[in-house]
Amino acid sequence: MGRIAIVTGGTRGIGAAISQKLQAMGMTVVANYAGNDEKAKAFEAATGIRAVKWDVGDHAACLAGCAQVEAEIGPIDVLVNNAGITRDATLLKMTYDMWDEVMRINLGGCFNMAKAVFPGMRERGWGRIVNIGSINGQGGQYGQVNYAAAKSGIHGFTKALAQEGAKFGVTVNALAPGYIDTDMVAAVPEDVLAKIVAKVPVGRLGQADEIARGVAFLCGEDAGFVTGSTLSINGGQHMY
Ligand code: CAA
Repeated sequence: MGRIAIVTGGTRGIGAAISQKLQAMGMTVVANYAGNDEKAKAFEAATGIRAVKWDVGDHAACLAGCAQVEAEIGPIDVLVNNAGITRDATLLKMTYDMWDEVMRINLGGCFNMAKAVFPGMRERGWGRIVNIGSINGQGGQYGQVNYAAAKSGIHGFTKALAQEGAKFGVTVNALAPGYIDTDMVAAVPEDVLAKIVAKVPVGRLGQADEIARGVAFLCGEDAGFVTGSTLSINGGQHMY
């Protein structure tokens, strides 16, 4: 069956790998993005995946954007809440804006997008929502009270919404990546990153495609009994 999927932050990094993996599964994929028009255009040209622009932290924009996608393409069956930013600093140096921006986009984005697509999934009796959490939402991370709180919030959001969707064929799961070879991780100071990687039992950064494989599993037609779970893909860095 030709499912329709939307992936937020879907034109770069982990999101781009997810968009392409879902497309390879036979889904019609729409990739949301917020900032980088040039990369989005290049992604669209290379993959044939339509890129749509809005800020997932903007509630009204999510409702309007998803309504437009549904009017033009069809009902959204699969939502991957992947869009996320970092504004790392110790609490002493973190401003309120750094806190607010991360909460608004990383956690608020999940609420905004779910509000847009969950009612339709519930009515139609089928849906898949995958929220990208983080190892740092599970275990915390020095310099990330904003990001860790937002990602930890995503894990709670997932378990609550999973209970609301279960009777209606809508599964809601989280995937918690470890340190993946993306622009976001490349922004971590080199010496700090080297110390982090030294603690990864597998001994390397993960690849975006290794996350996309997990998302594909959670979005599968045959994954209907998997809900409210957190799939950790982190090279063994965090095991509880
Ligand atoms: N544990 C304990 N102490 C630490 C520490 C740690 N993990 N990291 C830094 N410190 C200490 C330093 O040793 C230093 O102590 P001294 O002053 O006594 O020497 C002090 O904290 C200040 O450190 P910095 O000089 O690094 O301070 P800074 O203000 O320049 O930067 C920081 C702080 C922003 C947190 C920086 O260290 C940093 O960027 N760390 C990486 C944070 C990180 O891992 N982010 C993940 C981004 S990727 C992502 O989030 C994706 C995902 O989901 C996994």
